[in-house]
Amino acid sequence: MYDEGLDLSQPVAWGSEEERQAAIKFFNAAFRAEESGLRQAHELAEEVASMDPDLAETLRLYGDEEGWHRELLTEFLTFIGGEVRPMGRVTGTFYRLYGRAKKMESIVLVNLMFETIGSTTYRMALSRVKHPAIRPMLTILTRDESFHVPLNVHFLKHAMKGRTLRERMRLRALYKVLFLALLASAYASRRRAKAFDNIEFKELARAYAEHLAALFAREPDLGFTPPPFVLKLLGIDEEGLSQSEAARVTSIEEAERAIDRQQAVVSAL
Ligand SMILES: [Fe+2]
Ligand SMILES: [Fe+2]
Repeated sequence: MYDEGLDLSQPVAWGSEEERQAAIKFFNAAFRAEESGLRQAHELAEEVASMDPDLAETLRLYGDEEGWHRELLTEFLTFIGGEVRPMGRVTGTFYRLYGRAKKMESIVLVNLMFETIGSTTYRMALSRVKHPAIRPMLTILTRDESFHVPLNVHFLKHAMKGRTLRERMRLRALYKVLFLALLASAYASRRRAKAFDNIEFKELARAYAEHLAALFAREPDLGFTPPPFVLKLLGIDEEGLSQSEAARVTSIEEAERAIDRQQAVVSAL
């Protein structure tokens, strides 16, 4: 991991200053996601260390990978003439609330949903952004975050073992609320990053909804279902979700295939 650096010898030929500013905002959002993922993974690792050392080690390594992404992004932001900026009001509130979550299963569920929108955004951006100096950064993020999604589905199943019905109901409600909040975040992010990633709000919202819904389409027992009116509104076929491409990327088979990380990118594109 640490041997894989970025080649930052060629400057980016920006189409406009607006595009560059939007890229700085895009990668700042990525930076905050990495920072939060790193902290939560290491906290969870400590929590489970005495019960399950193997799981703790996996969580630690996973957190380390987020830490490595954070380092790469810090370097990359300087390369594009930007810097790590303080969080905006909405983003700050989001992460503060998340930071206050104490129950393991809530933390893992929120993290899983964040990973899902992260990997969805990176995959879409990678299919649109053509700058040769930017694609390697997006490729690393797409590749690793695609792997983190099925990894977190596994963590969540683990964390949900032995939970009471009441706890499960709480978690299902959290899933629904976050589902809507993340769709709303797609709207807010368009104002900031669209000049860079060229993704329209409707495309992004539909992709978020589809991937967040598909996460559990093959695990109906867990009971995580999105608000049905949203799927209808976005033209997503609920019945077909378990067989969809979106469900495939979160499967255990996909996680096993992602042991060869380059394959994860090939299948992501
Ligand atoms: Fe990451
Ligand atoms: Fe991640």
